[in-house]
Amino acid sequence: MGFLGAAYLWVKAAHVVFVIFWMAGLFMLPRYLVHHQEGLAIPGEPERWVRREALLRRMILTPSMVIVWVLGLTLAVNAGLLEGQPGLGWLHAKLLLVIALSGYHGWAVGYARKLAAGRPTLAPRTLRLVNEVPALAAVLIVVLAEVKPF
Ligand code: HEM
Repeated sequence: MGFLGAAYLWVKAAHVVFVIFWMAGLFMLPRYLVHHQEGLAIPGEPERWVRREALLRRMILTPSMVIVWVLGLTLAVNAGLLEGQPGLGWLHAKLLLVIALSGYHGWAVGYARKLAAGRPTLAPRTLRLVNEVPALAAVLIVVLAEVKPF
């Protein structure tokens, strides 16, 4: 059970709770970006989306991502990642995916800044397509964490 002992299940439960908050934010922000981009030419709209995006980032996205990483890395050390414990192939694959998901988070925040400056760079259809990235990542990550196929 590792160094966490009896706290292991509590840490894992807290990890999953903050995963839910982080994913909720990661589903909302790209949707906001679509509305923000569509409303760029409507007087008063861009300012409202800039405010909503900043609030979502400050209240949900940034704190949950930090907590998920701290608790996830604690669980990873507890599982023996640093000692090269065998059977953790799923965790290595999961780490690659969560690094990519964190990169997506950074990209979405960066794109919100571009929209705030009135400089969209993606076609509306492409922006809608990249909205699907967090859902796809969540499916793969949850299967790796729950099924542990390798
Ligand atoms: C951000 C960095 C993350 C790290 C370092 C990390 C690492 C871990 C580790 C080591 C465990 C414990 C597994 C065990 O003891 O059996 C775990 C559990 C879990 N993680 Fe993560 N995780 C991260 C993010 C995520 C994300 C983004 C999701 C979902 C989208 C997720 C979903 C889960 C689930 C569902 C479990 C519970 C698995 C079970 O029931 O045993 N994690 N995570």
